[in-house]
Amino acid sequence: MKRRLEPRWAIFISGRGSNLQTVLDGIDDINVIVVVSNSASAPGVAKARRMGVPVFLIGKKIDWDEVHFELKKRRVNRIFLAGFMRLIPGSFVEKWKDQILNVHPSLLPEFPGMNAIENSFGSSSDMGVTVHYVTAEMDAGEVLFQKVALTRNDLDKNKISLDEAKIEISRVEQFLVREAVYHG
Ligand code: GRF
Repeated sequence: MKRRLEPRWAIFISGRGSNLQTVLDGIDDINVIVVVSNSASAPGVAKARRMGVPVFLIGKKIDWDEVHFELKKRRVNRIFLAGFMRLIPGSFVEKWKDQILNVHPSLLPEFPGMNAIENSFGSSSDMGVTVHYVTAEMDAGEVLFQKVALTRNDLDKNKISLDEAKIEISRVEQFLVREAVYHG
């Protein structure tokens, strides 16, 4: 299939990069302009480089005006936060209104923020994944896709461990990230 020229994606990462890998697997159809990482040693950076995708490294103290300028220069018009562990300031979100998506490992609005998997595992709720628009308030924007990964019944009946739950969450994350970059 011929690569769609639009949208022009920037994928933001901080670590492992399993969600980034899902996007890169579709590189023939998806136009990934740049991978932005706040860590030079993130395995996702090596993955991107191996596939010839440009990487833009941002330091510990992020200059968000510079990030904005860099993305505009590359004519990026869509951002995916695929495991990006830093807070995005409101002024940046305002400039990219309705153009930033995030994947979060819980059924938002339940369990926003850090340790979402552990917190939902230890609750009486189902576990799942959400892809949502990013607003200045953390994990609070409009939901684009949401999918249950494990119902409480699955978890209890099959005595699923936290590690097993994490694997299932990761599988569902990758499915939804794919949905979002192809159709979002
Ligand atoms: C994912 O669980 C994502 O939802 C969360 O951070 C994790 C990153 O995983 N925000 P990866 O770097 O894509 O493997």
